[in-house]
Amino acid sequence: METPQIDNTRIAEASRGALSRDDIERREKVFSVVDLAVSYSGKVALQDVQLDVHRNTVTAFIGPSGCGKSTFIRCFNRMNDLVPGAKVEGTVLYHGADLYSDDVDPVEIRRRIGMVFQKPNPFPKSIYDNIAFGPRVLAMKGDLDERVEGALRQAALWDEVKGRLKDGALGLSGGQQQRLCIARALAVEPDVILMDEPASALDPIST
Ligand SMILES: Nc1ncnc2c1ncn2[C@@H]1O[C@H](COP(=O)(O)OP(=O)(O)OP(=O)(O)O)[C@@H](O)[C@H]1O
Ligand SMILES: [Mg+2]
Repeated sequence: METPQIDNTRIAEASRGALSRDDIERREKVFSVVDLAVSYSGKVALQDVQLDVHRNTVTAFIGPSGCGKSTFIRCFNRMNDLVPGAKVEGTVLYHGADLYSDDVDPVEIRRRIGMVFQKPNPFPKSIYDNIAFGPRVLAMKGDLDERVEGALRQAALWDEVKGRLKDGALGLSGGQQQRLCIARALAVEPDVILMDEPASALDPIST
């Protein structure tokens, strides 16, 4: 069976949205992907990917299951570094700087370029502590309770959990857990949030 491949033409179409190509290309480039290839233990998952992502545009990658969408999105914050056997080749520029250069700290990259995973992955901690985790580690300024509430409101979860913030996050429904993970990503105010099918566990209204 032929391996499904990301179709660059369709990526470009999806990233174009309602704006004309000229409109988009006038915007600042946030990411530039050049000749990207990813393999797992020598087996090619992605190859020959070229793509620019411009500021303030919605860019979506679509394609059949297994075509490499999650693999691709993990290249934008070096999350594939943590996948055993994964090898990333080619160039990913972030505001013109090579994300894979030796002098780049992947932990700092992941703070600035946050991620919501395809499967919800709350920490086995309280709802409050899940959101407060990042701001505490980073010793972020400001009132922590307000930050937690703000993030939960942005993720449309506040009303459902405001009376049970000390309860365990694993007791939430799948869709609530996914919104919790979105709130957790928002709480550290990243520059970019990469979302891997974040609404797959949500109904249309929650989405
Ligand atoms: N950790 C891994 N180890 C080995 N192979 C992997 C790993 N992750 C993904 N792959 C392989 O890479 C290819 C692309 O997988 P990926 O998860 O990126 O697809 P996807 O487009 O996100 O699919 P889906 O829509 O089902 O989420 C698949 O053939 C998959 O089996
Ligand atoms: Mg996927």
